Amino acid sequence: MKFFMLVGVLALVLATLHGGKSDDASKSDVSLSVDQSLYAGSEKCASCHKDYSETWKTSAHNKMIRPPILSGPDQTVFADFSKPSEFRPFELKDVKWVIGHRWKQRFIGVVNGEEVVFPAQWSIKEAKWQPYTGKADWWYPLHPDWKTRSNFKLCAGCHSTGVDTKTQTWKELNITCESCHGPGKAHSLKPAVENIVNPARLSTERSVEVCLSCHQAGKPGGDELAWPAGFSPGKKLADYWKGFAPEGKQTSEFWTNGTAHKNRVQGNTFLQSKMHFAGLQCSSCHDSHGSRHTSMTLKSATTNALCLTCHGPGKQVGPNYVSITEHTHHAPNSTGSQCISCHMAKTGENSVGAESRDHTFNFVSPAVSIGDKNVSKKDPNSCNLCHADKTAEWALATTKKWYPKLK
Ligand code: HEC
Ligand code: HEC
Ligand code: HEC
Ligand code: HEC
Ligand code: HEC
Ligand code: HEC
Ligand code: HEC
Ligand code: HEC
Repeated sequence: MKFFMLVGVLALVLATLHGGKSDDASKSDVSLSVDQSLYAGSEKCASCHKDYSETWKTSAHNKMIRPPILSGPDQTVFADFSKPSEFRPFELKDVKWVIGHRWKQRFIGVVNGEEVVFPAQWSIKEAKWQPYTGKADWWYPLHPDWKTRSNFKLCAGCHSTGVDTKTQTWKELNITCESCHGPGKAHSLKPAVENIVNPARLSTERSVEVCLSCHQAGKPGGDELAWPAGFSPGKKLADYWKGFAPEGKQTSEFWTNGTAHKNRVQGNTFLQSKMHFAGLQCSSCHDSHGSRHTSMTLKSATTNALCLTCHGPGKQVGPNYVSITEHTHHAPNSTGSQCISCHMAKTGENSVGAESRDHTFNFVSPAVSIGDKNVSKKDPNSCNLCHADKTAEWALATTKKWYPKLK
């Protein structure tokens, strides 16, 4: 009970501080309860929309939070619990839920009657245990002791559907149909376009916000929760969530130059990009229902097919070149000729550094890595992430030669 009173007070304080305006994420704390009876569940949707559900089922969105399964086709635990680790005060038998499958795995167990996140994670790339301190998160000072890091307060809203923090229950695990289409019981009973949210029919802004509600680092109005409780597709995200923006210095989310410093900042970085201002959305490049390409892209990014849908010689948005080498200065089949190598450099740390792709789509000049007062020495750039054995000065000199017009 105490918790909810505190939340109420915080909401009031915030409302006073911000004059009760609706665009400052102040509403989030009043929506701890969700009417779960409005949800139908993905099995129901699948009974009429088979094509969408088949691909979604095998997509990452349906692999986020699962019970521990050690082997077989449904295996969920990739971490090696036989490897001892000083960071890991828990065993496999203590694990109720496994979170993640691609870059890293974290684990949830029950402590003092509450689901909490354990303080060690498994790096899939490096096949080793790492401490999970939470120190980089804004909520760390409120939860220095991992035993108070509640799944329902800090995580569940972005990893499950129809989450109710009051009863600490969800309607369905994972990012399901109704995470992006809103509750669909009424639609399932009497299908019509009016009683279900189709992001394609929303304004560009509202549509992107469906994805941003999970893929944009930020903070709700109060301090109790770490996800935008109360938001659902079609609503205005700013009423529930304030996304972090670059501050011109290195932060947990950004490098000095505004590129991704960690994972889960696709939204924060995309909002800075020219493509966002030109009206593109996440779904201009990603198939939300899953695809056969890495990261559910509509076409392959490694063959350049995705980018060349809109870009390339003769296209209005450039770049103009006769052979690809003329623009990339690398052999046609080189990884150095992939658009994403330079325009979506892996600047972001996930379980290890250089694992998550920047979504500003800017070419990150080697100039950002050369020491000067305003630029952090550690800012990675598009060239040296591959040419790690060369200096930033070498890369800058080459870049200037290749791209004389570069600012
Ligand atoms: C009983 C069958 C049935 C079920 C169950 C069902 N749908 Fe539908 N859905 C339809 C039909 C039929 C249409 C087309 C309606 C029309 O064009 O008037 C539709 C249309 C849609 C659309 C497109 C709306 C648009 O703007 O064009 C979406 C999105 C959608 N459904 C999602 C869902 C989701 C999510 C669920 C589960 C919560 C679901 N449906 C459950 C039959 C169903
Ligand atoms: C991660 C978000 C997300 C999830 C999960 C998701 N969808 Fe969608 N869905 C979208 C978006 C965005 C669109 C519109 C643009 C597009 O088609 O990519 C859409 C469009 C649709 C449409 C309408 C297609 C049309 O012709 O306009 C249907 C039907 C649909 N989804 C059904 C489903 C069903 C059924 C599920 C679950 C099995 C599901 N979706 C899961 C985001 C999602
Ligand atoms: C309710 C939260 C939520 C929403 C809404 C959501 N996502 Fe996600 N998304 C996630 C989580 C969590 C993961 C990580 C899943 C995993 O690793 O198992 C993810 C993963 C992804 C990935 C990586 C897929 C891969 O194969 O590794 C892409 C791409 C993506 N989301 C795009 C989108 C787009 C586009 C939208 C909006 C149409 C969207 N997401 C909406 C939570 C969400
Ligand atoms: C605001 C939404 C949000 C919150 C809150 C959130 N996550 Fe996530 N998380 C995501 C999204 C979106 C992704 C996938 C995109 C990415 O990693 O770049 C993700 C990725 C992850 C991954 C990596 C998944 C993989 O397949 O490798 C793990 C592990 C994870 N989150 C654990 C947690 C834990 C534990 C908490 C709570 C302490 C938490 N997250 C809170 C949205 C969220
Ligand atoms: C112009 C195309 C484009 C747009 C727009 C775009 N993405 Fe991506 N995204 C990509 C490509 C390409 C990859 C990497 C594919 C690969 O590695 O083969 C990617 C990777 C990802 C990943 C995997 C994790 C990572 O960091 O590498 C996630 C999650 C993701 N995008 C989410 C989003 C979200 C959410 C939005 C909207 C805010 C968005 N993307 C907008 C092209 C795009
Ligand atoms: C659906 C069409 C579409 C796709 C797909 C697409 N782009 Fe774009 N891109 C655009 C448009 C439109 C602009 C805006 C041009 C402008 O306003 O000057 C743009 C702008 C850009 C710019 C900024 C150019 C400048 O003048 O600064 C870069 C860089 C870029 N795109 C890279 C990419 C990459 C890399 C991919 C593949 C991952 C990609 N784009 C995929 C349509 C697209
Ligand atoms: C080796 C690195 C590299 C690769 C690979 C690369 N680019 Fe570029 N690109 C650059 C640089 C450097 C600039 C100039 C940067 C600027 O002006 O911001 C640039 C500029 C651009 C621009 C805007 C200026 C113009 O010429 O119209 C677009 C659009 C663009 N690139 C798209 C692409 C696409 C599409 C691909 C894949 C076919 C690609 N780039 C591959 C480095 C690269
Ligand atoms: C995705 C990785 C990747 C990126 C990003 C990349 N390169 Fe390369 N680069 C390569 C590879 C691989 C080769 C080997 C030759 C080839 O494939 O063209 C190469 C070759 C070179 C060479 C000729 C051989 C040498 O080492 O002297 C130069 C010079 C070079 N790159 C400079 C750059 C510069 C400058 C940038 C940034 C604008 C850049 N590269 C970005 C992968 C990359």
